[in-house]
Amino acid sequence: MAELPGWYDNDIDRVIVSADDIRAKTEELAKQVAADYAQADSVLLVCVLKGAVMFMADFARALGRFGPPAELEFMAVSSYGQGTTSSGVVRILKDLDRDIAGKHVIVVEDIVDSGLTLSWLLKYLQSRSAASVDVVALLRKPEAVKVTVPVKYVGFDIPSEFVVGYGLDYAERYRDMPYVGVLKPEVYQR
Ligand code: PRP
Repeated sequence: MAELPGWYDNDIDRVIVSADDIRAKTEELAKQVAADYAQADSVLLVCVLKGAVMFMADFARALGRFGPPAELEFMAVSSYGQGTTSSGVVRILKDLDRDIAGKHVIVVEDIVDSGLTLSWLLKYLQSRSAASVDVVALLRKPEAVKVTVPVKYVGFDIPSEFVVGYGLDYAERYRDMPYVGVLKPEVYQR
């Protein structure tokens, strides 16, 4: 079914991952996670706000069809300002609400770019005595291979360009796009 043009389409150079591709891949990832955690009583999904909110919502529902019961937790950390590259500074804006000791934690991320956020987050979650910590990331950029962050489940490897949509923003806009696309440089060079 063709989608109606959205307000954002004029700002996008090209589609990187379509809404249909996201749907199919999310189901595939949920099946893999469900198979790997078939013996677990439950898993605890940790969403890293705000970018991962769309993927968390869709992934959790897909996992609900195949896997063990999931609890949902949300954290907010900051590594970017309003620019287009990682600053390397990670700080907690919103912490976990509950104890995660003994839980099977799965971090749900929209994108692993430099890997700085994730590498910090994994250490943090392990220090809180989780039984296990895995990561599912919808997108990964090539830079991410430079840091040794174990991302067990990856949706799409994408080129090192400035992408927005499906949770990913530029200056808080474009998160509501249903697909992931490359932002036209003229938008952020204005
Ligand atoms: C983005 C993204 C990841 C992180 C990845 O979040 O959602 O959490 O950056 O980058 P890294 O691998 O280079 O650390 P951001 O800090 O932009 O916040 P947001 O999700 O609220 O947009």
